[in-house]
Amino acid sequence: MNSMDTIIKKAKRGKLNKGIIGTAGKILKKGGLVAFPTETVYGLGADALNEKAAEKIYAAKGRPSDNPLIIHIAKMEDLETIADIIPESAVTVAEKYWPGPITMIFEKSEIVPYGTTGGLDTVAVRMPSDEIAQGIIEAGGGFIAAPSANTSGRPSPTAAEHVIEDLYGKVDMIVDGGAVDIGVESTILDMTVNPPMILRPGAITKEMLTELIGEVSEDRTMLHGSMDDAPKAPGMKYRHYAPKGDLSIVEGPMEFVIESINRMAALRISQGHKVGIIGTEETIGRYTDGIIKSVGTREDEATIANHLYAILREFDAEEVDYIFSESFATGGIGNAIMNRLLKAAGHHVINV
Ligand code: TXA
Ligand code: MG
Repeated sequence: MNSMDTIIKKAKRGKLNKGIIGTAGKILKKGGLVAFPTETVYGLGADALNEKAAEKIYAAKGRPSDNPLIIHIAKMEDLETIADIIPESAVTVAEKYWPGPITMIFEKSEIVPYGTTGGLDTVAVRMPSDEIAQGIIEAGGGFIAAPSANTSGRPSPTAAEHVIEDLYGKVDMIVDGGAVDIGVESTILDMTVNPPMILRPGAITKEMLTELIGEVSEDRTMLHGSMDDAPKAPGMKYRHYAPKGDLSIVEGPMEFVIESINRMAALRISQGHKVGIIGTEETIGRYTDGIIKSVGTREDEATIANHLYAILREFDAEEVDYIFSESFATGGIGNAIMNRLLKAAGHHVINV
């Protein structure tokens, strides 16, 4: 279904182009689809209060309709329009981390259609910090449903090229704001339970939240779950972020990891397969065969979060059959990295 003419426009931060933001806003208000950058990943936006518009998102992404959407707002006072009960601790989190990479879940108000929440009585809300996103949300009426702008099941887009790959011809407009800042999706914090529960790890970590509001629990399927446990965020149950090649994570002391990856890569190559390796700045020189890529440096794990999805897409484009990845520490942003990597690998971990 590549039937639509898709407008593609480059937008700059610092001096927002009113014409581009205005066009995006008009399309959204008319019930159309606009993909735009946020600080986490690119989002595919539609008017969240227009059920028909929100439904178009599911068609464009090939997304199951029981998977709820996050509503993006640009002003704090807009939260009251869509959320029924706003606990004190949510206000504390919003004051500290909004606009920014955290989504909170509330009881929904009546005006939020079930077509946006996947039939749930709760609603996920986020205020992004990217000024292009903020401009488009305001121009589009203030309430923009936006999942990651990828085809369902593919790695989330961290650059406009990824959005074009997946959605060209299926959406009205793609606003190109270059590479995103963070590279993994927002933290999701469920404020309808006590203590609040992290359903998806992101750049705002459990440590940061605990320091701010006290006890915070975690959906236990986030890191350790098998694919059969049902996670609390409906979207987390689908096999996400999956590359086309067979991805395994190799875990253990670094010397053994390198040696095992080299051995497994050599074996697959000798069998006629194409092999990709995900290493880091610290180790990349130690791999011998295959397509070897550095995902970032262990000295600054934010660099790893930033490059992970793009590397998985590169391996898809290169049509590798097998991918071997190093494993990463699970503290701080490492939780988000390992959560996404484990999903991409279908929880296939090789312990050495
Ligand atoms: O960083 C982000 O959050 C990006 C950017 C574009 O803002 N958006 C994003 O949306 O990651 P999406 O749709 O790809 O992921 C939203 C996740 C899904 O796992 C969904 O199931 C969950 O949020 N979710 C949404 N509403 C929910 C609700 N009411 N209760 C539980 N989980 C919810
Ligand atoms: Mg997504």
